[in-house]
Amino acid sequence: MVAGGVMTSAPRKQAIAPDGTHPPIKALVCAAAAVSAIGGLIFGYDIGGSGGTFTMKGFREQMDWPPVPTDGAEEPGFVTDEIGWITSLFALGAVAGSIPSGWFTDKIGRKYSIILYSIVFTIAAVIMGCANSVHMLYAGRFIGGIGVGGLSMASTCYQSEIAPESIRGLLVALQQLSITFGIFLAALANVGLKTWSEGWRLSYCGNGFLSFALIILMMFCPESPRWLYKVGKVEQARAVLHKVRQDYEVDMEMDLIAEQEKEAQLAAQHHWSDLFKAANNMRYRTLVGIAITSFQQLTGINAIMYFAPVIFSDFLSTDMALIANLILMFVNFISTFITIACVDKYGRRSLLAYGAAGMTITLLVVCLLSSDLADYKNDAAVSWTIVGFCALYVVNFAFSWGPVGWIVPAEIFPLDLRGKGMSLTTSANWLWNFIIGKVTPELLRQDRLDLWGTFLFFAAWCIIMFVFTMLYVPETRLVALEEIDNVVSGFRRLPLSTRATKARLAPEDQLPSRPRDITDKLGDTSPYNASSVEMAPGV
Ligand code: BGC
Repeated sequence: MVAGGVMTSAPRKQAIAPDGTHPPIKALVCAAAAVSAIGGLIFGYDIGGSGGTFTMKGFREQMDWPPVPTDGAEEPGFVTDEIGWITSLFALGAVAGSIPSGWFTDKIGRKYSIILYSIVFTIAAVIMGCANSVHMLYAGRFIGGIGVGGLSMASTCYQSEIAPESIRGLLVALQQLSITFGIFLAALANVGLKTWSEGWRLSYCGNGFLSFALIILMMFCPESPRWLYKVGKVEQARAVLHKVRQDYEVDMEMDLIAEQEKEAQLAAQHHWSDLFKAANNMRYRTLVGIAITSFQQLTGINAIMYFAPVIFSDFLSTDMALIANLILMFVNFISTFITIACVDKYGRRSLLAYGAAGMTITLLVVCLLSSDLADYKNDAAVSWTIVGFCALYVVNFAFSWGPVGWIVPAEIFPLDLRGKGMSLTTSANWLWNFIIGKVTPELLRQDRLDLWGTFLFFAAWCIIMFVFTMLYVPETRLVALEEIDNVVSGFRRLPLSTRATKARLAPEDQLPSRPRDITDKLGDTSPYNASSVEMAPGV
């Protein structure tokens, strides 16, 4: 079973080629990689695109907004209520889109769900691209969110079912990277589009071309063999497996699918309330999971991802603000590689703790520099120092709470409740994403918290997160998913370090030295997909 439709529950036997190596990957499987990459790009582009438009002249004229003040005016009158709605309706749509996605993927199949949600997104892209009022844009953002929310689940589910086990982790790592790359791409596009009065339309609908490409690509892809088996089309499932696997792998994979179907039926018997029962430490695990995904948003990262161009144009020219935004998005993309290198070496707790501490410090510096103590609006050196510290803040997020904020919740739930647990923790994340998107423009107003107060607010959350990490977050590094359950049931709190975890285990239960590949874990935990594990039983 999976978080996000990616990982199987227990270590599986892997097919070996007659010469003892991994079976060669067939060309059709590359379609799965393309599907996951395109899905990630669409998602990322949506996060990174809108922020830059808020300072574009053509966009503001179309929306009937006042021009961006260029003289360091006291009140940044360009921070409007509408900005909050345009941003956050996307996250709300994603919640709405992911809820029925499990039903669709089960009823019409993975392939046609992807096509369906891509069509929804493409329609939304057209609405956004043609928007002549803010209300039309609201509609486009919300419908686009529905498309992305559903697409994220359906495409992840599909790629995990069609790809052989040996490259699944890789595909999900690729997906994570493509999200951050999509954010960067949107920021880059905005730099080029800002001078064209209609350029903002492409910031909103540019990824409609990608979703359209996805519709076409999917037409040529086979349906998931897992789904075909599930709906009783056993021979068709076998035929697809012959296309995407070597012939000697097919029987073993058919057995695996049958076994996982049985597990899925067991998981379906659980009730949501089981997540909050004291038995097996469930209540504790659930609360820790919800706290981690919620805190991930309360770091304030999306205040930057969504509003950096608006924030920076308070003290830089709008052109320079877009460049500064681009630098941050690039840093975000590059820093994602740090986690891939470090998470197994240093563990989740350390990364979360260092990340929270690093974000606190960088936010406090930005807070000081943007207060009345510094003349940041008129001093270019101070302005760019603020941008520099914002970049350092993004680095601290990108190696810690960004990816690890998804990894730990996926690891602490027992197998049969992982689907429901992950659905809940991911919904909490989307909900906070929506709230942050909506309230940040309000907080930034000078008659509210202003820039420095907003940074102070998020710094306070980072301090809370540091304390929370030290007290409550378990170290799950090197603990195989199937052992975590044995280790934690019976304890009021999860063991706080790898050493403590190992000490609790009887010698015969000692963890197998099976260093799970980081990409495996990312596979469990993609923010991109995790909303709907529950809806993909049997994955
Ligand atoms: C978060 C997103 C955020 C992104 C930035 C993800 O882990 O869930 O909300 O926009 O990181 O890279």
